[in-house]
Amino acid sequence: MKGLFVTFEGIDGCGKTTQIELLSSDLKAEGIPFVLIREPGGTAIGEKIRTILLDKANTGMDERTELLLYEAARAQIVKEKIIPELNAGKVVICDRFFDSTIAYQGYARGLKLEDVDFLNNWSAYGIKPDITFLLDLDEQTAYKRRHGRSDEEDRLEAEGLMFMQKVRNGYLERSKEDKRFQVLSALDTPEEIYKKIRKTVWEVIGK
Ligand code: TMP
Repeated sequence: MKGLFVTFEGIDGCGKTTQIELLSSDLKAEGIPFVLIREPGGTAIGEKIRTILLDKANTGMDERTELLLYEAARAQIVKEKIIPELNAGKVVICDRFFDSTIAYQGYARGLKLEDVDFLNNWSAYGIKPDITFLLDLDEQTAYKRRHGRSDEEDRLEAEGLMFMQKVRNGYLERSKEDKRFQVLSALDTPEEIYKKIRKTVWEVIGK
């Protein structure tokens, strides 16, 4: 595949959205073809699955059901969007990908990591991100930031601080295992964080 697959990860409230916006506007300004997508969602089918996953009324969702729904949305977006866009040579920026599943459903929900890894690889048709930016933040600060926003909490965000702490630790554990990760402290200013992201991406695209 000719494109570049870049993913952003971190606990809810870590500031991913700001960084994704900065990267997108920079790529746009320089005329570098890119697409921006999010998980779960990003396709007509995936957005319907997202609604089920994030609906707070779904309190009784079994954790295996949850895992399989995330994987179902993933298979769809990989086949329908990610692979074709990478083949077309674009930079594909994904707001979350399968590392979210390892952190949330594996480390935080407690599902077996090897099962999650198997399903991640299977639903992703074997593809992996080239670069993964992990915006690392403690759960208390993330919680405060989320509560400074007007939007209501979704089903996952409502899980509480202990859950988010497990998610954070899961991400940090996983980041040690793969060189594609760049861990950035989300306590730094958005400008400081973005400088590092830009440097890494521009080094790879060779500009
Ligand atoms: P977000 O798009 O607002 O970040 O919301 C997606 C939520 O879903 C977020 O709380 C993280 C969670 N999530 C998982 O639990 N597992 C996954 O595999 C993915 C992609 C997201």
